[in-house]
Amino acid sequence: MYRLEEETEADWWEVEALYDLCFAPGRTALSSYRLREGVPTVASLCLVLRDAEGVLAAAIRYWPVEVGGQDALLLGPVAVHPTRQGEGLGALLITESLAAARRLGWERAMLVGDAPYYSRFGFHKLEGVEMPPPTNPERVLGIALVRDGWQGVQGAVTRANG
Ligand SMILES: CC(C)(COP(=O)(O)OP(=O)(O)OC[C@H]1O[C@@H](n2cnc3c(N)ncnc32)[C@H](O)[C@@H]1OP(=O)(O)O)[C@@H](O)C(=O)NCCC(=O)NCCS
Repeated sequence: MYRLEEETEADWWEVEALYDLCFAPGRTALSSYRLREGVPTVASLCLVLRDAEGVLAAAIRYWPVEVGGQDALLLGPVAVHPTRQGEGLGALLITESLAAARRLGWERAMLVGDAPYYSRFGFHKLEGVEMPPPTNPERVLGIALVRDGWQGVQGAVTRANG
């Protein structure tokens, strides 16, 4: 049994520790982190999954960004504790948070990640959407949260103005 909750301020460092455990060292050097610096998360979409004892099992965060001046969600980081991977927790966090994003009126979401994993949720390679270098363009993926949500949306991905 897992509890799905919105991340609170008190969860911040525990989630950071989970990310440190799940990602290669130096994760914060990735270009996506430059887009997050100094920008608050989209708090209502940042979720944690805890087991019956309250132990953190998985977490997902989102930041706002702009693509060619248009609002978009940047999904990530998402991570599942190594002892709990493959149970569907990653999928649960992604589908629940994207459903919430749709309800909140977000039109598009993007991420930098593995297409073989994210394609099952409807993500596809974005053409003409440029992450700050160095980013492999093959890993720049997006999903429309409304019909044609990515139609005509191209250009540089930049930090949200807030
Ligand atoms: C990637 C991650 C979030 C997936 O969460 P999870 O709860 O383990 O995954 P799920 O149970 O929802 O899905 C499992 C399926 O995804 C596949 N999968 C997991 N990671 C994958 C990847 N990087 N590429 C392709 N497939 C992947 C598994 O092989 C499995 O496939 P199956 O359904 O055919 O058996 C988790 O494994 C994780 O935290 N990894 C380390 C951190 C990371 O890489 N985060 C993503 C950054 S882009």
